[in-house]
Amino acid sequence: MEPLGLRAVGSHCSLSEMDDLDLTRALDKPRLKIERKRSFDERSMSELSAGYGRHDGLYDSPRGRSVLDTPLSSARNCFEPHPMMAEAWEALRRSMVFFRGHPVGTLAAVDNTTDEVLNYDQVFVRDFVPSALAFLMNGESDIVKHFLLKTLQLQDSEKRVDRFKLGKGVMPASFKVRHDPVREMDHLVADFGETAIGRVAPVDSGFWWIILLRAYTKSTGDLTLSETPECQKGIKLILSLCLAEGFDTFPTLLCADGCSMIDRRMGVYGYPIEIQALFYMALRCALSMLKPDGDGRECIEQITKRLHALSFHMRNYFWLDYQQLNDIYRYKTEEYSHTAVNKFNVMPDSIPDWVFDFMPLRGGYFVGNVGPAHMDFRWFALGNCVSILSSLATPDQSMAIMDLLEHRWAELVGEMPLKICYPCLEGHEWRIITGCDPKNTRWSYHNGGSWPVLLWQLTAACIKTGRPQIARRAVDLIESRLHRDCWPEYYDGKLGRYVGKQARKYQTWSIAGYLVAKMLLEDPSHIGMISLEEDKLMKPVIKRSASWPQL
Ligand code: GLC
Repeated sequence: MEPLGLRAVGSHCSLSEMDDLDLTRALDKPRLKIERKRSFDERSMSELSAGYGRHDGLYDSPRGRSVLDTPLSSARNCFEPHPMMAEAWEALRRSMVFFRGHPVGTLAAVDNTTDEVLNYDQVFVRDFVPSALAFLMNGESDIVKHFLLKTLQLQDSEKRVDRFKLGKGVMPASFKVRHDPVREMDHLVADFGETAIGRVAPVDSGFWWIILLRAYTKSTGDLTLSETPECQKGIKLILSLCLAEGFDTFPTLLCADGCSMIDRRMGVYGYPIEIQALFYMALRCALSMLKPDGDGRECIEQITKRLHALSFHMRNYFWLDYQQLNDIYRYKTEEYSHTAVNKFNVMPDSIPDWVFDFMPLRGGYFVGNVGPAHMDFRWFALGNCVSILSSLATPDQSMAIMDLLEHRWAELVGEMPLKICYPCLEGHEWRIITGCDPKNTRWSYHNGGSWPVLLWQLTAACIKTGRPQIARRAVDLIESRLHRDCWPEYYDGKLGRYVGKQARKYQTWSIAGYLVAKMLLEDPSHIGMISLEEDKLMKPVIKRSASWPQL
């Protein structure tokens, strides 16, 4: 019997020959196969806790490794690659970093047009993810394996900010290779936040590491890496930072501003959607890789419980659509006791004007943040795309997010995919919330800027929801400009028309993000690497009123 797995077969036919319907059908193919031999991801967490075996169906047919410098996609006759792809591959390869002879990552940017390097000459964990996916899709897994192992070793080092020691599980935001000319040796120097602007540790790095470990395993079929005691320990250490019980009353993760892709003050402290979606995805990926032995079993149990609570919380309290907005608008406040409908005491007066016009009758999204008397109504692209990919969003919610993107194309995509968040902060709000940050002025950088890297996440979400035509529209926009503008880090302006004020050129994740989007469209079966199917046995969304404890 042929080996089956999520990664499954590549669709060897030209996209241009296929209409959207065909693409959806092509997508269905691997799914049908999965049905016959369910992958681990499809198996429910409840099954897991009931003690089923782990890895059925996790093995894949590894794609033949390419030792050539050309991407596999262009080696296949059936796909006519855009000329930009070859340029992108070259630029991506130029950004590769080597440590003692092995490739271990890619630099954040290789911008020779400026002397102001800052820390863009480092390998950022989050920035490497699209590079890693591009390499995996091209059958080059070595660099990913080395990256995973090296960052794991870095996790082991002692981390301090002044006199304060950070948790063991923290993964670095970035690292660089230093050459010691005297000892003629390379060594790695990592940044866990102790030299970062604002001195914030990256909460997202550990989650991306787990997500990438699963992508590697899925893509190569090599279970030996994730099963090593080192990797098992690494996963547990990362999660021990998040699963410990304490003062929390919510299953979401409490964070400081600047702990993720938006790595400076932008008013996302509290419970930002980006982190919650990544947390959910990392928990599910960890569940598919953890061995149920020793403390692994306990960790699996903790994860299972947390996933149930987290999905309930997110799907109920972070979800906003027309109906929900109307409900919040009519909320009573100061409700005490279990019968409260407005559990977090959100003041209807705090709803910003723009959201009433922005919200279409069809469509919805996960809001930016929910906490005590706090609802950040802003749209954040990454968190919403990851919610779709991880199946944190129900199928209906996923469709609604795509509907919103279509309805609000001008606002959320404009002329350059994709706005990191919408809308921007201006005037007094900007002063108070960003602390007068001159980089995050309105419609710039993290404050409503447009980030080409987000194209891969959008494309993956489109493919998962069976709407690749939306991704193609976005790819067309990218192809009309990105190369000509030398692959900027971000664009500015309400429509994303201008190359960002302080944007790097030859930003690696802009380059890799484009490649991943193209390869996903070319061969949608790649989606298995970065997407998780819905957990069918997860409890359905319960209506607000039904969530009160039964006394
Ligand atoms: C900026 C971005 C951050 C990224 C880094 C390197 O600081 O905000 O998300 O990781 O640049 O590209």
